[in-house]
Amino acid sequence: MTARKVIIDCDPGTDDAIALFLALASPELDVALITAVGGNVGLDHTLRNARALVGLTGKPIPVVAGADRPLLGSFIPEPRVHGRNGIGGVTLPDGPPVTPGLGSDAIREVLRAAAPGEITLVGIGPATNLALAVASEPALLDRVAEIVLMTGAWAEGNVTPAAEFNAWNDPEALAIVLSCGRPITLATLELTAQALATPDWIAAQQGRGGACMEAAHTILASVPPSPRLGGRGTPQHDACAIAWLIAPELFTHRAVHAAVDLTRGPGRGRTVIDRWGKLPGPRNAALLETLDAPGFFALLARRIAALP
Ligand code: BDR
Ligand code: CA
Repeated sequence: MTARKVIIDCDPGTDDAIALFLALASPELDVALITAVGGNVGLDHTLRNARALVGLTGKPIPVVAGADRPLLGSFIPEPRVHGRNGIGGVTLPDGPPVTPGLGSDAIREVLRAAAPGEITLVGIGPATNLALAVASEPALLDRVAEIVLMTGAWAEGNVTPAAEFNAWNDPEALAIVLSCGRPITLATLELTAQALATPDWIAAQQGRGGACMEAAHTILASVPPSPRLGGRGTPQHDACAIAWLIAPELFTHRAVHAAVDLTRGPGRGRTVIDRWGKLPGPRNAALLETLDAPGFFALLARRIAALP
């Protein structure tokens, strides 16, 4: 099996933490680079968390600091879900030092050294770093096989009635990425609502592995169950994007046109996802629609338990 080479751009983030563990535990993926972006909490926290999570896995993966604010407008974090430090107030041992450089430059460096179609970009935070990378050197886009994003919703948002958090945080960046011409896969809120970690599942993970599982358990246990989803648990949004690359048989999908609302009103950040082919736009994205939740949670538990 040849591992797929990926770059993960993230804003850990309680669910980003679980996604990073899943990626780093999976032989199907060769994680070449992790870039941090301001999102759930400020860049100082997301960078520290990314380093700490990588440190727990023991993998020598560079972690580079990216943008601390969106392309336009001001930065607004989401500490209600993720706690003030982004991982529910949980204290992790400090990780390896940050790799010098700027996130979008580091992404372009990996692309420049790659063969055509060799790299998969995974975005599980606001799309700022990815947009800066692809917009500043579009000639490198031929190195990109696919861009997998946890972003958007085809119906209701989670941060405003219209918008999902990552899309709302930097809609201009998302517009750049959605229109870059490479194949996009979208894990939206409708998909991630099916990846609901219940209190019972979280409790069952206690003591099942080493330090990584202990961290995963403590972080997940810190997250209040989502009122939007009936208080039944906490959605593992970001791990869905990673699981798609590891076990695509857990998903169904369809080709859609996807765009994002850049207006300044209440619709800002809404993703317009044309599931029924009503608009003339090109089918620029594969929309993940259904998830085999038992299969997904079995994969998560098995892989994270195998980490140190
Ligand atoms: C997305 O926003 C963040 O709160 C999560 O980490 C996820 O990436 C869900 O809307
Ligand atoms: Ca995230």
